[in-house]
Amino acid sequence: MRALITGITGQDGSYLADLLLSKGYEICGMVRRSSLENFGRIEHIRDQITLVQGDLLDSSSLEKILRDFSPDEVYNLAAQSFVPTSWEQPILTGEFTALGVTRMLEAIRQACPQARFYQASSSEMFGKVREVPQKESTPFHPRSPYGVSKVYGHYITINARESYGLFAVSGILFNHESPRRGLEFVTRKVTHAAASIKLGMQSYVELGNLDSRRDWGFAGDYVDAMWRMLQQETAEDYVIATGQTHEVRDLCKVAFGDLGLDYRDHVRINTDYIRPAEVDLLIGDPSKAKNRLGWTPAVTFEELVRMMVRSDYDLLSGRAGQSKKTTKIVRADSLLKSTDKIISPKTKVEVLR
Ligand code: NAP
Ligand code: GDD
Repeated sequence: MRALITGITGQDGSYLADLLLSKGYEICGMVRRSSLENFGRIEHIRDQITLVQGDLLDSSSLEKILRDFSPDEVYNLAAQSFVPTSWEQPILTGEFTALGVTRMLEAIRQACPQARFYQASSSEMFGKVREVPQKESTPFHPRSPYGVSKVYGHYITINARESYGLFAVSGILFNHESPRRGLEFVTRKVTHAAASIKLGMQSYVELGNLDSRRDWGFAGDYVDAMWRMLQQETAEDYVIATGQTHEVRDLCKVAFGDLGLDYRDHVRINTDYIRPAEVDLLIGDPSKAKNRLGWTPAVTFEELVRMMVRSDYDLLSGRAGQSKKTTKIVRADSLLKSTDKIISPKTKVEVLR
């Protein structure tokens, strides 16, 4: 079997590549040109995969890759995936995350209509939730340009299935994390900061809304669900979630607590991290995936947070073995200052105690 993965340099792309290699797949990963290579998460499998240059903004590159490689399965994981950036760069987010899906589907129609297609849809589409828990039939109410773009990607995937008979599925995945998560997402920001504080490299971390609730699972479990969706007889859409929800505050408690710290001594609230519109509560109902795909998540929330804390602690203390090869060492405080805020003229910072 041959699989094309877009977004292979990202968190999910790297775990999916690990999984498909273990199943004997030949893998082609599409990467966009950059002045500096960004292959940290796939360094350990570089010699087992083929990387080709392409971009979701460039239809001709997509069609050429599909013709040259002729995949059996296409996993479209590439996107502008950070929600705050979607307010700062709404047009680019729409180009990548929404229209990029149409470009990929049109290229498949032209080059390899038999290929099975997976679209990385998101629980962000539920936004201001209309139902608790959220399932496949729950109406969408996205709260960010990212969420709106994902709704477009979801429906254009369904439309390709209904209009042209493509085997095209949309996986509605709730938040999933890992030691390979980008440092700007809240889980990794917290676990990395907790480890860094424990090691005396920084003394506090600034966060935004501690009240929001997410259904957090382990990325390694979630890529298995993607693969399962493409092995079914018919193309259908699935919610992938744990069915448990936790506040950002709980994340802080577990992460700092694991290192013998109290988060209230180290977390500050900075209004630059408060979003113009928030998704307050996400909790998914994964019953369909359980019954039809035989999928269940293996890693609990507490196990996930501890796995990430330990990995960051090892990384920062220079004790990392294998994981050092797959995750870059970057100081959270220096990196985050420039990239993950929505800068406002009236920034306010509060300490918790
Ligand atoms: P990620 O770590 O941010 O990775 C995104 C990937 O997309 C990177 O490989 C990036 O390449 C690539 N990319 C971005 N723009 C591109 C373009 N124009 N052309 C080609 N490649 C481009 O995201 P992730 O967490 O792995 O998520 C994978 C997908 O699942 C995304 O579509 C995301 O929106 C969706 N999703 C994620 C979650 C979650 O909780 N993780 C939940 C639901 C849905 P560079 O390395 O060059 O930047
Ligand atoms: N990033 C971040 N940084 N989030 C913070 C912070 C902070 O300092 N403080 C509080 N939060 C809150 C956010 O307001 C949000 O409610 C929650 O933490 C989670 O934020 P992220 O980790 O950035 O993830 P997300 O839920 O916005 O988006 C992720 O999950 C989606 C699926 O629901 C991304 O992976 C998306 O690509 C994905 O589609």
